[in-house]
Amino acid sequence: MPSKDITAPPSYRPTARVLHWLIAGLVLAIIPAGQIMTIKGLPRELQDGLFLLHKNGGVVIGLLMVLRLGYRLIHPPPPLPPSVAPLQAKIAGLTHILLYVLIFVMVASGYLRVMAGGYPIEGLDALGVPHLVSRHEGVEKAAQATHAITRIALVALIAAHIGAAVFHAFWLRDGVMARMWPRRR
Ligand code: HEM
Repeated sequence: MPSKDITAPPSYRPTARVLHWLIAGLVLAIIPAGQIMTIKGLPRELQDGLFLLHKNGGVVIGLLMVLRLGYRLIHPPPPLPPSVAPLQAKIAGLTHILLYVLIFVMVASGYLRVMAGGYPIEGLDALGVPHLVSRHEGVEKAAQATHAITRIALVALIAAHIGAAVFHAFWLRDGVMARMWPRRR
């Protein structure tokens, strides 16, 4: 009888899987933190703590995304199983590109909003990283609006992405989810 591994479709490499789940966890945590921290009348300490986590966590996401993109360019994703129709594969590919773009837009607009507003990013400041943007009200407002609008598109796309993953894992059971899931030894 063939073992499971022989029939299983090829998986993402361990580094790609670690980066995927690390970034997924951070993004899923940073979105509610961003929503909550902007609520008016929040206790000051809680608000400051959430801002600290959000800004610095956002920068970490940006750095991990650069690593992930570089790794993906060197090691392209494994081919999808033949059971996935070409149109479906194309839509999945476009969704993934859009996820990369929207996350980078969130990181860049968040950075610009904070820098142009004259606020600190504690982690970068502690490391002596120079501010790349000086105070500017117009840039601050534009970045704030971009951050708020892109958030809606990102949340919708993440919901579609998770929905598709769950559909493959529990309905189609075609091994697509297993490509990214941690391996069982
Ligand atoms: C993947 C990365 C990021 C995601 C998913 C994200 C998500 C969010 C969300 C959902 C909000 C609430 C927006 C609203 O209610 O209008 C928000 C607000 C905010 N984010 Fe981010 N963010 C990210 C990266 C960053 C970074 C890197 C910074 C700064 C270094 C940052 C700074 C801020 C600030 C200052 C606000 C408050 C906006 C305001 O009302 O002026 N974000 N973010």
